[in-house]
Amino acid sequence: MSDDAEKSQQFQIRIRDLHKSFGEHHVLRGIDLDIERGKINIVIGGSGQGKSVLMKHLMGLLKPDQGHIYVDGEDIVSLGEYELNPIRRKFGMLFQYAALFDSLTVEENVGFPLFEHTRKHSAEVRTEVKKRLDALGLAGTEKKYPAELSGGMRKRVGLARALILKPEILLYDEPTTGLDPVATKNVDDMIRDISKETGVTSVVISHDMASTFRIADRISMLYEGKIVVSGSPDEVLRSSHEMVRMFIEMSGAIRIQDGSVAPPVAPS
Ligand SMILES: Nc1ncnc2c1ncn2[C@@H]1O[C@H](COP(=O)(O)OP(=O)(O)OP(=O)(O)O)[C@@H](O)[C@H]1O
Ligand SMILES: [Mg+2]
Repeated sequence: MSDDAEKSQQFQIRIRDLHKSFGEHHVLRGIDLDIERGKINIVIGGSGQGKSVLMKHLMGLLKPDQGHIYVDGEDIVSLGEYELNPIRRKFGMLFQYAALFDSLTVEENVGFPLFEHTRKHSAEVRTEVKKRLDALGLAGTEKKYPAELSGGMRKRVGLARALILKPEILLYDEPTTGLDPVATKNVDDMIRDISKETGVTSVVISHDMASTFRIADRISMLYEGKIVVSGSPDEVLRSSHEMVRMFIEMSGAIRIQDGSVAPPVAPS
């Protein structure tokens, strides 16, 4: 196997020297980032640093000004809308604010991608949707509208919809924002379970350090338009980068126990 093919095997997405500006605002300033296949890859960083912008580039929702994004070895930057379709089919995305259709029921929301992208009949769609909802603890919510659900339930409905086309790569944009500690732990467990059960490549954007250290296989930090550290949780903890240290220490997200790192004690 060539060196490049080998790297594409380990890293499903590879980003090189990615730049993006909005007007005068240079948001992404040369991002280099590798996303490991089948693992939970978490990108951390402060508010407004460009995490959501980066995420939208991964599936071609935004075009960079410069740089490359290889998905399974194919550079998607130069692809047109039509050529992007099969690439986008590899992705499921849980948007930052769940982004459900308010006028559609839970069942219609989750089934929507199946109607859009497959020729499945209503009965088949209903069966698949029910299976997904049951698996995520949402049985009985089929006929409800998003406004009738709690924040945590809406996230799970968004996740059910992101999973319905069986994506190879799942993007989660701040899946635990706005949730209480118990709901946060539930979403964390869900991300872990889905990763284990399906082998999907997960990319999670977060500024919740407790969650990050609980579930990440690989952590990368975005700061001032660049990835300033990237590696295993242990490697990131040992980083001497000032912003990384500050992020970790201020979050109080971890404690050192017998020389090793443990997540915080779960609130009772
Ligand atoms: N479509 C757009 N047009 C103009 N500016 C944009 C656009 N999208 C994002 N930005 C700007 O890019 C910067 C990064 O935004 P982004 O949403 O990626 O931040 P973030 O890291 O996801 O923050 P948060 O943690 O608050 O979600 C912000 O200053 C934002 O105003
Ligand atoms: Mg964001």
